[in-house]
Formats: sequence, structure tokens, C-alpha cells
Amino acid sequence: MRVGDLEVNRLGFGAMRVLGTPDIWGPPKDPANARKVLRRAYELGANFFDTAESYGPHTNETVIAEAMHPYPKDLVIATKCGLVRPKPSRWDEDARPEKLRTDLEGSLKRLKLDCLHLWQLHAPDPRVPLEESLGVMADAQRAGKVRHIGVSNFSVKELARARKVAKIVSVQNRYSLDDRNEEDVLAHCEKLGIAFLPWYPLGAGRAVRASKIKRVAKRLGAAPAQVAIAWLLAKSPVMLPIPGTSSLAHLEENMAAAKIQLSREDLAELD
Ligand SMILES: NC(=O)c1ccc[n+]([C@@H]2O[C@H](COP(=O)([O-])OP(=O)(O)OC[C@H]3O[C@@H](n4cnc5c(N)ncnc54)[C@H](OP(=O)(O)O)[C@@H]3O)[C@@H](O)[C@H]2O)c1
Repeated sequence: MRVGDLEVNRLGFGAMRVLGTPDIWGPPKDPANARKVLRRAYELGANFFDTAESYGPHTNETVIAEAMHPYPKDLVIATKCGLVRPKPSRWDEDARPEKLRTDLEGSLKRLKLDCLHLWQLHAPDPRVPLEESLGVMADAQRAGKVRHIGVSNFSVKELARARKVAKIVSVQNRYSLDDRNEEDVLAHCEKLGIAFLPWYPLGAGRAVRASKIKRVAKRLGAAPAQVAIAWLLAKSPVMLPIPGTSSLAHLEENMAAAKIQLSREDLAELD
């Protein structure tokens, strides 16, 4: 599938979880394992990694560079800007132009890139007109520091406003089998032909405990997480799931979901 002009495999990787810390705070709990998981994700076919300057903050981008730089040509790294972390429990919006400019320079440096592959606004900041935030991102693109621009946690209306300021190639919103509030945004992305990145594709782990998923998984001899991911892949051609894990065993399991074909009956049961 395509993200802008970049060709990526259907199943990506949510790099946030490699930190292995409950609040996504501080350095990786086990740095060698974090690097191993990232390298293995790529080997298994995930050539789209999702991260953010706020993961850690900063440490998630740093560990990606440590594990993967110099980057394979086909690896796409998507990072995000516009949040601030005053303490572990807080994820506050800050999409003021000056904050985004600082985020950009920091992400370029930590990721060791001259041009970010995909730069996403993490969330609209209610105190800043989104045209202003997106304007800074469009300027960065014109300056050659950003190849593509995406948004996250955006409504259909906000997406329409953003598209007047910049070319948007992806939307990243919370979505999974048992969490479908964002279906209108997904439908809109399909209509526009832009990538939809569901965050919490496994419901942050809840999906593996859902009874209908467990039932279908048992019948197919698959793991529940695989069924949850296969359902997302079958749901829409613009869907680019980014399941996250710090476990090599879970990673192997999740990446193998790309090969699972759900039948019409399986899909009906899951719906
Ligand atoms: N844009 C946003 O606002 C936003 C918000 C949150 C996340 N994100 C992005 O979305 C990505 C995905 O979200 P997520 O990682 O929070 O949630 P997720 O992919 O829905 O679930 C990850 C959780 O599920 C567990 N898990 C993973 N594979 C499993 C398996 N095969 N069996 C059992 N448990 C499994 C993981 O634990 P183990 O580590 O033990 O495997 C982890 O706790 C993140 O990595 C991040 O890049 C974006």
C-alpha cells in the first residue's frame, strides 16, 4: 500500500511499546531487547515504524536510530509532534508554532535524518488554530525537511480544515474491532485514498481477551491477536495497522497475522 508516494507493507509496527515502561517514560527498560524487537520487526516485513517525539519523551526515536541507522532504503519512519510530557501520566497538547519547530529539529537530530519520512501532528491543540500548526508543518515540507504530512486524533471536519493547508497523506486514530467510533474518519480516508493508521489496534491488549475473537481464533488455530490484526487488514485497503509490543514472541505472532485470510463467515461472526 502507499503512504503518499512511499510504498509500504500492509502491516506496520508501533514502536512506542519497545520502551517496555508502563507510562512510555524514560529510557527503554531493556535497551538490547528494544533494539532486537525493532530489527526483528523489520526482518519480518514491517517497513513502517510509528513513533513520536513524546514517547519517552525522545527515547523512542533515539532507540530507533540506535537499532536501525543507517536505515534500509525501504524503511519508513513516521514520527509525531505537538505533545508535551510534564510528567509520566501527562500527554498535553502543545502545537504552538515554536513547539513544532523545536520538535522538528529534535526529531531530525535523534532519528539522524535530513528529511522526516512522515511527520504527523499528534493531536489538535484546542488553544492553537489547527491552520497555524499545519502551516508550520507545510513550511517544513517546503523547506525539504519533511517528505509527507499526517495527522492524528482528527475528526472528519478537522481533516477537511487540515487539507486546505497541507497535503495530508495519513490519519492516525484509535480504532480496533471493539472500538469503532472513528468509522466515519476511516470511510473518509477510503474516499480520499489516504492511509488510516489505527492506534490501539489490539485495544492495548484487550482484544486478545474478547470472547468472539477467542472463538474465531480457536477455530482457525490462530492466536487472538492475529485474528484482531487480520480483521483490520480485511476491513479496508487503506488500513495500516501498527500493533506494538516489547516481546519478541508477540512480535512473531503479530507479524504472522498478515498471512491469515479470514473467511466471509469469520468476518460475519466478528462483526
Ligand atoms: N496517535 C496516538 O495518539 C497514539 C496513541 C497510542 C498509541 N499510538 C501508536 O499506536 C501503536 C499501537 O498502540 P499500542 O502499542 O499502545 O497498543 P496495541 O498495539 O493495541 O497493544 C499493545 C499491547 O498489547 C500487548 N500485545 C501485543 N501483542 C500481543 C500478543 N500477540 N498477545 C498478547 N498481547 C499482546 C502488548 O504487550 P507486550 O509488550 O507484553 O506484548 C501491549 O501491552 C503504538 O505503539 C504507538 O506507535 C498512537
